[in-house]
Amino acid sequence: MKIFADTANLQDLEELMSWGAIDGVTTNPTLLSREPGDPLETLKKICELVQGPVSAEVVSTDWQGMVKEGKKLAQLDDHIVVKIPMTVDGLKATRILTAEGIRVNMTLIFTPTQALLAAKAGATYLSPFIGRLDDISSYGMDLIADIMTILDNYDYDVEVLVASVRHPMHVLEAAKIGAPIVTVPPKVLRQLIHHPLTDIGLKKFLEDWKKVGKEIR
Ligand code: E4P
Repeated sequence: MKIFADTANLQDLEELMSWGAIDGVTTNPTLLSREPGDPLETLKKICELVQGPVSAEVVSTDWQGMVKEGKKLAQLDDHIVVKIPMTVDGLKATRILTAEGIRVNMTLIFTPTQALLAAKAGATYLSPFIGRLDDISSYGMDLIADIMTILDNYDYDVEVLVASVRHPMHVLEAAKIGAPIVTVPPKVLRQLIHHPLTDIGLKKFLEDWKKVGKEIR
């Protein structure tokens, strides 16, 4: 399973990359709006740090504007994947950008049939938002399972990127059903590591080793 970091924060990314477990990054206009400085410069720095797919989202809503912005974003760095919202114009822009060899991550997917159309338009990644579905009492992980069933039936060259992840159970469930990619906020990535029994176990090992009174050199 590939794990992407769902953040535009450079300090967080520097730390997360040192773990050796992060394969890419997803950003969106909200995440970039929280960071200081020019967002396009931030995206360039993220690409340098990560050296994997980095999703950067367009903000136009008409296909012509999306194509223009998508090309501009793609020129920032070879690692950029253009994030396009799931609308009619988004599908048109996806078809045009992918025909030019620009990778597209189709975002704001909330139904399996939206995912099917995005796959047909040539998207490289599909981003179904599970947390936002859970927020409105709809089981987000069902959407992932449905999309994966559909993709298993056919031969689209596309990967499901589980998005809007809110807690460790989302990551666990996505892994259990074999989702190829999950994008996870830094806070949840840290939650994946911590366990009280690990802390207690380590404390005891260190206390016992102290009794030995020897350094490892
Ligand atoms: C990532 O691609 C999405 O933009 C992000 O996961 C959305 O998460 P949220 O629903 O917690 O804002």
